[in-house]
Order: sequence, then structure tokens, then C-alpha cells
Amino acid sequence: MVESMNITWHDSQVTKEERQKLHEHQSAILWFTGLSASGKSTLCVEIEKKLHERGISTYILDGDNVRHGLNKGLGFSPEDRTENIRRIGEVSKLFIDAGVITLTAFISPYRKDREMVRELVNQKEFIEIYVKCNIEECVKRDPKGLYEKARNGEIKDFTGISAPYEEPINPEIVIENDKQSIEVSVDQVIRYLLEKNYLD
Ligand code: PPS
Repeated sequence: MVESMNITWHDSQVTKEERQKLHEHQSAILWFTGLSASGKSTLCVEIEKKLHERGISTYILDGDNVRHGLNKGLGFSPEDRTENIRRIGEVSKLFIDAGVITLTAFISPYRKDREMVRELVNQKEFIEIYVKCNIEECVKRDPKGLYEKARNGEIKDFTGISAPYEEPINPEIVIENDKQSIEVSVDQVIRYLLEKNYLD
């Protein structure tokens, strides 16, 4: 019990392992990180579709969507980004407990924030996926016109232009998203999950 706050942890009668058994697969976070327009959301959607077809319970948490609700009000200062990722980490941990494979699409530019999430869960439950795409290609794609605005000074603290992106040092998976097709990238992730026995 946290005495000072009069808060007590309640255990439920159904364990995470029992929920996983019911789902017939492991639960984990597939943590996609990369620049804006690197392809994180597209990959999440395609991979979720493939997993769902195999009978896997999944859920996607996406930066733009989560910032409309749960994280409404948070901006893009380093402190707000850290709080954004902290909350997503906690929500993902709940999904893991529920026996679900969670796919998250957040720039998550700071190494320490991604490591904070890694440390929230068991070692095998956090799979960091670096969606690697060079900035020139992201600027060329610019699907929301945000890079142009950032370059004109209309958006400040824009990742890759006026705010940092810290590349993962030792991610579980690197997707060369400016060099390979979406089909190859989707297969790469599914193969990883199969080889490491997440799907059984
Ligand atoms: S973070 O850094 O992880 O907290 O960001 P995230 O929650 O993933 O939100 C990224 C999306 O917000 C839009 N956007 C910006 N991105 C970066 N920097 C600034 N200043 C910014 N302002 C708005 C942008 O659409 C990002 O979406 P994606 O899908 O990554 O392009």
C-alpha cells in the first residue's frame, strides 16, 4: 500500500499468463520509433492486419490519435514528449497484462524515454523497431506538409529539423524503410515474431 496516498494495489484472480493462454500467444509491445513520415503508422496498420488474420489479439496506439484524447494538451517540448511516452508506456503495459500484442507508432525521439518503457515491462515484452528513413526522403514524402511548415519556421521544435532524433543503439529490429518495400518490412517483423515464439 502507498500509505501516504491511501492507495492499495488489487490483484485480480485471472493472471496475465492465463489471459495469454486463452489468446494462445504471448503479449508484447512492438515499439515503432522513427522520424515523422518514416512510415511507422503505415507499417503498424499492415502488420496488425497480418497478425489479426492469424488470430492474434492486437491493438494500435498511434501518436496522432492518442494526442487527440488521452494525451490531449501535451505539446512537443522535451518534457511533454517524455510525459507522452511515459503514459503510452503505462497504457502498453496494461495491454500486455491483458494478453494483447500492442503496436505503438510514436516518434519517441529520446533514447532515455524508450529505455524507460523497456524497463516498465519484462525484457522479452519490449521489441524496439527502428523505422529507419533518411530525412531527405521524409522531407520529400511530407504527407502532412509539416516539414515545409517547420522549415518556414511555422512549427517550432520539429523532429529532425529543429528538435533532435536519437537513433536506437541496439534495437531488436531495424527496418530500412527507404530501401525496401512495405511487403518485405511486414514479413521481416512477422518472421521475427515467429522465430522468437511470440505467436504460440
Ligand atoms: S513524440 O515525439 O513521440 O512525443 O511525438 P508523437 O506523439 O509520435 O507525435 C508525432 C506526430 O505529431 C505531429 N507533430 C509533430 N511531430 C514532431 N515534431 C513536432 N514539433 C510536431 N508537431 C506536430 C506529426 O504529425 C507527428 O506524426 P507522424 O505520424 O510521426 O508524422
